[in-house]
Amino acid sequence: MPRHPANTLKNIRGAAPTSTVGRGKSITLANGPGITQWRDDATLLWLGDSLDHYGQWDTPTVIVSDGAYGVLGFEGDTSDHLDMPHWYEPHVKAWSAAATPATTLWFWNSEIGWAAVHPILERHGWRYQNCNVWNKGKAHIAGNVNTKRIRRFPVVSEVCVQYVFEAKVDGQPLKQWLLAEWKRTGLPLRKANEACGVADAAVRKYLDQGHLWYFPPPEMFERLQEFANAHGKPSGRPYFSMDGKRPATGAEWTLMRSKFFCPHGFTNVWDRPPVNGGERLKAPSGRAVHLNQKPLDLMRMIIEASSEPGDAVWEPFGGLFTAALAARQTNRRAFSCEIDPTYFQYGVARFTGASVRDLAEPPVEAELLFQSESATLA
Ligand SMILES: C[S@@+](CC[C@H](N)C(=O)[O-])C[C@H]1O[C@@H](n2cnc3c(N)ncnc32)[C@H](O)[C@@H]1O
Repeated sequence: MPRHPANTLKNIRGAAPTSTVGRGKSITLANGPGITQWRDDATLLWLGDSLDHYGQWDTPTVIVSDGAYGVLGFEGDTSDHLDMPHWYEPHVKAWSAAATPATTLWFWNSEIGWAAVHPILERHGWRYQNCNVWNKGKAHIAGNVNTKRIRRFPVVSEVCVQYVFEAKVDGQPLKQWLLAEWKRTGLPLRKANEACGVADAAVRKYLDQGHLWYFPPPEMFERLQEFANAHGKPSGRPYFSMDGKRPATGAEWTLMRSKFFCPHGFTNVWDRPPVNGGERLKAPSGRAVHLNQKPLDLMRMIIEASSEPGDAVWEPFGGLFTAALAARQTNRRAFSCEIDPTYFQYGVARFTGASVRDLAEPPVEAELLFQSESATLA
């Protein structure tokens, strides 16, 4: 039996966690999906707790986290941000165990939820890059907010925070390691400029220990490495080696940082209304199947910005599997879990093209969920 997050949650204030059963659900399908996983050659979707599945997933280039918000938004969500560090910590640990320096984490949340979890992310090796704000616009709240009662400005935003997994060699962050390796050669610092064929940029950028530090491009890393191994103290060789046996190549050096391809014209504020129209999965009652369904275009954008075709994308909290679908649409490989059988079924239907209306009329046929590999995507 998979662990339920509500059962694993230890309320830090000692009180019994608020019941979240049935929270935020507009529909619960009478029949289970009849399957516990759905897959094709690029996608693996599990019904279950992601904590039970991380161990079988391929090394992630991207992790898209859209889990607890501290708003009792789904069964197992916490009642406020105070319990969120506990809720996330086992997941963050598992992400860190699987991540490489090439991995990017996109952490979706409310501002306060992110603030509460940030120290946990840092403690487990994730380095903050940027906070992106999804501005849903005024239409999101039109006429529905009594500001006299809530006594604050209406919230129309979420954040999607970009983290990278800090690369370390010999236990040192890259910045420190580069300088330490150069010092080990016994060569004066200025010789690094000669190695790179620049006036002063190597010392000023690549060996700097402050905010001016700059990741040496692979060709510059190779120049530093070759110069150090040719002219550095023979007793200390190899220099700039990851395994202590041979110097690292430019290609190996490239893997020491995350990928980033900036989409043209984008800033860290993403103006985009909430999911609506045909993209929004609705129950027969007309209500949204999942309150937290994310826009596919935003998911595609972050995935394309931080990975390449063929790379593995993890979506630990699948919901309707928006990140997995975006990964599939952009030729990445997706690994995802959803713990709730109803969300799982609706999510899988986005991949198979099964009619959402069919799902609402039990019994749901398991075959239906496997039916169409070439279905039209949402
Ligand atoms: C914020 S929603 C994700 C919405 C999703 N991004 C989308 O666009 O549909 C979080 C989801 O994570 C699921 N969940 C919570 N804890 C989980 C766990 N440990 N393993 C798998 N799914 C989990 C919840 O049931 C919920 O549907």
